[in-house]
Amino acid sequence: MTNMLVTGGAGFIGANFVHYWRQHHAGDTIVVLDALTYAGNRANLAGLDDVVFEHGDIRDTALVERLLGDHAVDTIVHFAAESHVDRSIHGPAAFVDTNVLGTLSLLTAARSVWLAGSGRPHRFHHVSTDEVYGTLGPNDPAFSETTAYAPNSPYSASKAASDHLVRAWHHTYGLDTVTSNCSNNYGPYQFPEKLIPLFLINALHGRPLPIYGDGQQVRDWLHVEDHCRGIEACLTRGRVGETYNIGGGAELPNLTVIDTLCAAVDAAFAADPALAARFPDAPAAKGLPTASLKTFVTDRPGHDRRYAIDETKARNELGYAPARTFEQGFAATLGWYLANEGWWRAIMDGSYRDWVATNYAARA
Ligand code: NAD
Ligand code: TYD
Repeated sequence: MTNMLVTGGAGFIGANFVHYWRQHHAGDTIVVLDALTYAGNRANLAGLDDVVFEHGDIRDTALVERLLGDHAVDTIVHFAAESHVDRSIHGPAAFVDTNVLGTLSLLTAARSVWLAGSGRPHRFHHVSTDEVYGTLGPNDPAFSETTAYAPNSPYSASKAASDHLVRAWHHTYGLDTVTSNCSNNYGPYQFPEKLIPLFLINALHGRPLPIYGDGQQVRDWLHVEDHCRGIEACLTRGRVGETYNIGGGAELPNLTVIDTLCAAVDAAFAADPALAARFPDAPAAKGLPTASLKTFVTDRPGHDRRYAIDETKARNELGYAPARTFEQGFAATLGWYLANEGWWRAIMDGSYRDWVATNYAARA
């Protein structure tokens, strides 16, 4: 039995992980620590009444120490972060505060409770990103765990710094850590600032689909439930002090993802006439192709061209492999957003509209 502290458990991946863990590990204690920033949402944990929810900040070291003690926590799974590259370009300081200083605070608390205090068996699992490795050319080999760090955005630089802190706390103090670096996630509960949910919701409202630059940037798309299985594999079979890359085996240019999305929305409207009444502004409601909304806009500054994951180590050591193709994962995701209109309407508030204006108004 595990007593687990999940930081950022009310965010996209954290909430999916809490649902996954509750489903597969009944009886474990789960404590969620989340500051409920714009990206955090209690509704993401609806139905999980036996999960303890603590509204607080990972930078509050005393609070983290209290939670580790009160709940006899033996495992931390650390998701809490500022996670959006575009926001990091507009406001980098918050990324250093949360991602670097927040991780330092957690490590400090874990060290004082687990090493100086109880001395009990423990695990600190740090969730990071493939973006720490920088960008690849079209023919470069995919990122492996030994690829040199070369972060290019304020977001990826702050995540890289946090990875280095976790590594140092293992080597210097003997904290039992594992870090996973995953590729672009998609699936239920993703905040509609990231590519897939933003474009889906724009498509339903007949709003432009703003494609940065030439749309030929490549990402490896990982369904969030496969990511959760990858973290589970790290927790159960990962070697202490190691890092593991987790990918989705779906390396695709953005334009391919967007064309898949447009075709899937068209097909959904064709199959279900009720959608035209629910979303009358969608081109698909008028028999027009969703692809007519595609709009090329000014590129993201410093936009990384290609990410790709070499998952040999996770496959060989952990037995990890993604279970879904992109087509399967995307179809399920579209179904979830269509079935959960209330969820996304509730979070598209004034601050969301302000963000959209900040990020898109000045793009030609
Ligand atoms: P998200 O932005 O959806 O959620 C982040 C959560 O952290 C929110 O619930 C927020 O309230 C919480 N949080 C933020 N600052 C906090 C603080 N100071 N104290 C406590 N809670 C705080 O992020 P996500 O997409 O779910 O990403 C989770 C983790 O996975 C992040 O560490 C991110 O870097 C990493 N990651 C994400 C992706 C992706 O595609 N989304 C890919 C690779 C790695
Ligand atoms: P995003 O979901 O922000 O993830 P990341 O930047 O972490 O990879 O973006 C995925 C890709 O989609 C990335 O190449 C940027 C691109 N993109 C657009 O073209 N338009 C958009 O409005 C957004 C949000 C992203």
